[in-house]
Amino acid sequence: MQANGEFLEFPVHENSLISGNGAEVLAPAFAGLFDLLNRRKASSTMKITPPGYIASLEAYKPGKPISDVIAEYGLTDVIKLASNENPLGPSPKAIEAAKASLSDLHHYPNGGKTLREAIARKYGLSINETIAGSGSEGVMNTVMRTFLEAGDEVLTSEATFSGFYVLANAMGLKTITVPTRDHGYDLTSMADRITENTRLIYLANPNNPTGTVFGRSAFEAFYKQVPKDVILLCDEAYYDYAVRDVPDYFTMVDDIRPNVLTLRTFSKSHGLAGIRIGFGTGPKELILPMLKVKLPFEPSTTAQAAGIAALDDEDFLSRTIETNQIGKEYFRRAFSSLGISFVDTAANFFLLPFPSADDATAFVSEMERRGIIVRPCDGSGLPTGVRISIGTKEENQRAIEAIKAILRTTANHSSLSTSTT
Ligand SMILES: Cc1ncc(COP(=O)(O)O)c(C=O)c1O
Repeated sequence: MQANGEFLEFPVHENSLISGNGAEVLAPAFAGLFDLLNRRKASSTMKITPPGYIASLEAYKPGKPISDVIAEYGLTDVIKLASNENPLGPSPKAIEAAKASLSDLHHYPNGGKTLREAIARKYGLSINETIAGSGSEGVMNTVMRTFLEAGDEVLTSEATFSGFYVLANAMGLKTITVPTRDHGYDLTSMADRITENTRLIYLANPNNPTGTVFGRSAFEAFYKQVPKDVILLCDEAYYDYAVRDVPDYFTMVDDIRPNVLTLRTFSKSHGLAGIRIGFGTGPKELILPMLKVKLPFEPSTTAQAAGIAALDDEDFLSRTIETNQIGKEYFRRAFSSLGISFVDTAANFFLLPFPSADDATAFVSEMERRGIIVRPCDGSGLPTGVRISIGTKEENQRAIEAIKAILRTTANHSSLSTSTT
């Protein structure tokens, strides 16, 4: 570590370090760290504490990195089927555009203006009906900071995207979760839980980690019951996987309504999870205040360039969807013939429900021991669930071989071989 031009040795626990989105985010973190350097002894008398809802916060747990599993198990060949990433890599057009943007990195970005223009053109919207951010989670963060304050009530489902719970908890919101029905959103029960205190409703369609979808008719019946002063946040992170596959599936991205905001990401079907780019659409009355709240230079120049190029990379998108379709069919057949319980999916992953949290944890470590990282779903409030992403043909086959090996070596097979749902 370098401070005041000198390298200092200072044992910092990894949980004391934070990386962030430019100096605006890092400055407070480093200020805290250098303060610690100067006043080590003061740490025992620390007077500054975050609000209670921050102190008790569970941070977002990302999928385990390949390097961690290599180190932990002494393996050389590890694959990750944990974070619903694109197994084909990034969109080639996005890579070219990202490279070309590098010579302009000495300039500040334009706050996503060029991507917003491209999105407006693609979906027939005005630019003021669009916003871009550091991933769709960046945009989600802006939605919440713009319209909500600590103590406000938000409504969603159990077993939905853990990032939403984390952001809501970080703001001290009161999150009401409605139990799932057949592993998916129960929109009828959710409508019953709307009260005069509800400020925002979050719907992920397809949902993560369950992979379930609801169709247009169910949505419209629900929408009728949402008061016009409640924001309906529609998260379409897995849109491209569902749209060719599910007959009644629909999008809200170009369906502008006074209380609806829609999120899309480039992290999944465009293969750009590492660069952090996503966007939102909605009425200008909701978008304009968000533009005042978002970090002014989000997204980065390179992320924006990659996103714009990926929007038009139809060839890559088709290959992605086809690879996913083939993998989805392969997993369906393999799980069924092995007697593995799974939830059918409209996305690029499957949820595997286990009889107990211990069984789920054991499965995750048995897969890791065999060099395959899958994702425990406790962060989504589903400790008995494990999510496995659909990979390339070879990756999928390797996963199934590993599951077969686990079934062979597990004395009591009951934890894996429950009936197909
Ligand atoms: C439903 C859902 N929404 C949003 C995200 C986050 O996407 P991004 O990488 O654009 O922040 C994810 C990522 O897993 C997701 O599953």
